[in-house]
Amino acid sequence: MERHRQVAWTERAAGVMPAGGFGNFDPSLVIREGHGARVWDEDGHDYVDYLIGSGPMLLGHGHPEVVDAVQGQLSKGMTFFANNAAGIELAEVICDAVTCAEQLRFVSTGGEADMYAMRLARAHTGREKIIKFEGGYHGMSAESLMSLAPTRLQNFPLAVPDSAGIPESVRDLMLIAPFNDAEFVKGLLDEHADEIAAIIVEPLQRLIPPAPGFLEALREETEKRGIVLIFDEVVTGFRLAYGGAQEHYGVIPDLCTLGKIIGGGLPLAAVAGKADIMAHFDANKAGDAGFTYQVGTLSGNPLAAIAGLKTLEILRRDGAYEQLRQNGKTVMTALENHLTNGDIPHQIVGDPVLFDVVFTASPVIDYRCVLHANADLARCFNQTLREQGVLKPPSKFYVSLALTDDDLAHTERAIAEAANALNHN
Ligand SMILES: Cc1ncc(COP(=O)(O)O)c(C=O)c1O
Repeated sequence: MERHRQVAWTERAAGVMPAGGFGNFDPSLVIREGHGARVWDEDGHDYVDYLIGSGPMLLGHGHPEVVDAVQGQLSKGMTFFANNAAGIELAEVICDAVTCAEQLRFVSTGGEADMYAMRLARAHTGREKIIKFEGGYHGMSAESLMSLAPTRLQNFPLAVPDSAGIPESVRDLMLIAPFNDAEFVKGLLDEHADEIAAIIVEPLQRLIPPAPGFLEALREETEKRGIVLIFDEVVTGFRLAYGGAQEHYGVIPDLCTLGKIIGGGLPLAAVAGKADIMAHFDANKAGDAGFTYQVGTLSGNPLAAIAGLKTLEILRRDGAYEQLRQNGKTVMTALENHLTNGDIPHQIVGDPVLFDVVFTASPVIDYRCVLHANADLARCFNQTLREQGVLKPPSKFYVSLALTDDDLAHTERAIAEAANALNHN
């Protein structure tokens, strides 16, 4: 096999893309293909994959039934813009599964869905401000880039833009709160209630689970004040449970956003929620004060819809979520055992379907706890895992259903090596 193809590809990428990559993932890794729970790089090294395309490939790569379904559609046409049966059926399946989803609209990315959700909340309430949690990720809109990953910390609720190019005025529309601090949010609502359109929250923020009562408090306080509660379920939808975080935690928002899994690996996302809020998208109301413009060339394209439909059908089968959680627990237990044996201060944070190690001795309840953890240890740990054939994003393990006993055993050996490397660092 030809070696060092990756270096050549990395050099070519550097010529045509800023920082040589599609985004912020390590551009020195160039993936050639994926099958099941493994991916291969351009040099032929294989990895047990916990990146899973940044979350969509819950069934693993190239699931034969999904591939068959997509191939069946390919020869019939890739995109129509007009309504099509696959897209309509997927909308029905999602509305059946997700409690808050009386209606939905498809878009192409999670970030687009979040942008529309915030806009809908403004249209519905006639108010402009939005409460967002520090460290919460809602895509790349101007609002979402406020206090996404700030390194210069400000006093709450002041928003910090994490990107250039955002008008100063957007900062004034966003109020930033610490995740898991219901009392702080109540204070903000008391002070600004008449100005606030929405609270947007990842019900499980990045990795951090909600404290008992936190989501319930958000629900109660927003309901009392006619504020729209938005759950960003781009990650948690169809992952924490078939009905998403709202099923798992038993708290129902007014709107939610979905992405990743619902497109089965192809670009598709959705904004979903109560029919009276979604009605602002009704094009028959163009010209009315509350009309909210919503359209996209690829929205509901049949290829992605077919991939999503088959993926969700497989997830409805008996035992799917039990298996997924069991896979995750196996990895979490290996992490706990090897890091504890190595006497390395750490917390395993998250849920069996997505989690990571945070190198700190203190409990992790919000963004600042993660920011103050030991990032050098995390880098070393992840690097050793990579060298040992385990691929993960910098701050997450995404578990898939495709993991075999052999993959899990390989993962445990890599974890043992990585824990060992920390001790010799
Ligand atoms: C919670 C959450 N919301 C929104 C997004 C944005 O989705 P996309 O990358 O499809 O725009 C992401 C992406 O990772 C996410 O994790």
